[in-house]
Amino acid sequence: MRDDIRAWLDAESGLPDQPLRGEFYVDAGIFAAEMRDVLGRQWLYADHVSRIPRPGDYFLFEVGGESIIVVRRKDGTIGAYFNVCRHRGSRICLDRQGSLSSFVCPYHAWTYDLDGALRGAAHMPDDFERRDAGLMPCHVRELEGLIFLCLAEGEAPDFDALAEIARPYLALNGLAPARLAARRSYPTSANWKLVVDNFQECYHCAPAHKLYSSAHSKDKLLAFGAGPGSGPVDAAERFSGELATWRERASAAGTWLDARAEEEDDIRSIWSVGRLPIKAGALTESVDGAPVSRLMGRFAEFDGGHSAVAFNVFSYFLASNDHVVMIRFTPRGVLETDVEFQWFVHPEAEEDVDYEVERLVRVWDVTTTEDKRITEDNQAGVASSRYRPGRFSALEGRLSTIKRWYLHEMATASVPSHEELG
Ligand code: FES
Ligand code: FE
Repeated sequence: MRDDIRAWLDAESGLPDQPLRGEFYVDAGIFAAEMRDVLGRQWLYADHVSRIPRPGDYFLFEVGGESIIVVRRKDGTIGAYFNVCRHRGSRICLDRQGSLSSFVCPYHAWTYDLDGALRGAAHMPDDFERRDAGLMPCHVRELEGLIFLCLAEGEAPDFDALAEIARPYLALNGLAPARLAARRSYPTSANWKLVVDNFQECYHCAPAHKLYSSAHSKDKLLAFGAGPGSGPVDAAERFSGELATWRERASAAGTWLDARAEEEDDIRSIWSVGRLPIKAGALTESVDGAPVSRLMGRFAEFDGGHSAVAFNVFSYFLASNDHVVMIRFTPRGVLETDVEFQWFVHPEAEEDVDYEVERLVRVWDVTTTEDKRITEDNQAGVASSRYRPGRFSALEGRLSTIKRWYLHEMATASVPSHEELG
């Protein structure tokens, strides 16, 4: 790592109550280090299994400069491989999705099976070992229909502990067999850390998100805007009556689940799970609180609750009783972040009978369009010669935690380990 980056990281660790200095949002060297040390150690949500139902179906997951082929193999399992030919390194799959019986490199036609093994390579010397030239695998795991990838070279971080904490939330909505009703992209010309910070605080909700703010309890947004226990205590006290009433109702319906988040001293991960009421009188997260589709999963009646799972800062599950929103933030370049939303409904819900797409997507489509604009304006400002980091508000406590985590990941991963030093 460059010495100036190392010095900036050291200086930032003494400044927990303010955003990062400008270089962190514009510097290509920092982005390269993040790709390896931060992104490379996450389990990133890639897509739902329904995207590749049949053997040979594949899609590309692109993060930073990497392209990963995610494919349904002949035996029905899901594989993931770096989209890099083992001959001279060409991209192999060029279309973002498709269906194939084998992967054929467009350059010199090396051919790989769906399990990544090299099957054909013409005119190679006699001593060439095909078995050593299979596609490079990427770590892949499935959880209740969700496909997660980890680009780590060597061993991937643990997946199972958080998977078991998140599973009841996903299963409550019957996510595995759910049907994709809509998918929308909001590519944002901003550094990924601005996109993440914006999503993790609700200080901006009142000034910037009129519709979102009207769909949710005001005190809840103040107290829990960025996850369980993230906001000021007085708002939490005001919200406690609303919460107690709802908790009783959800407990009676068997749909109450405890909120949890990473431990205070566990700075290796950022995650949270929780269910909270939407707002008094609202059955679902919609423009008017009225249902937008039919009940999903284990819900026998509307309980007015809203589930949220943050798997990390890049991958999120939000769910009402009648629909699920999956969100992923994928860094593509230092000033470019893919923001993708997917809306899932009951597998038998019919479009224009049980749901209308525009009504289903309305709250988050409006909110994310607003977020794209404010985040791009934020990027323009932090790139200025006169940007000086301000101070986090009482509603942005989560951003201090995220900053601590980020600095920890960057600092620890780039220092050679004792094993590496021998
Ligand atoms: Fe793929 Fe040559 S680079 S076959
Ligand atoms: Fe926002």
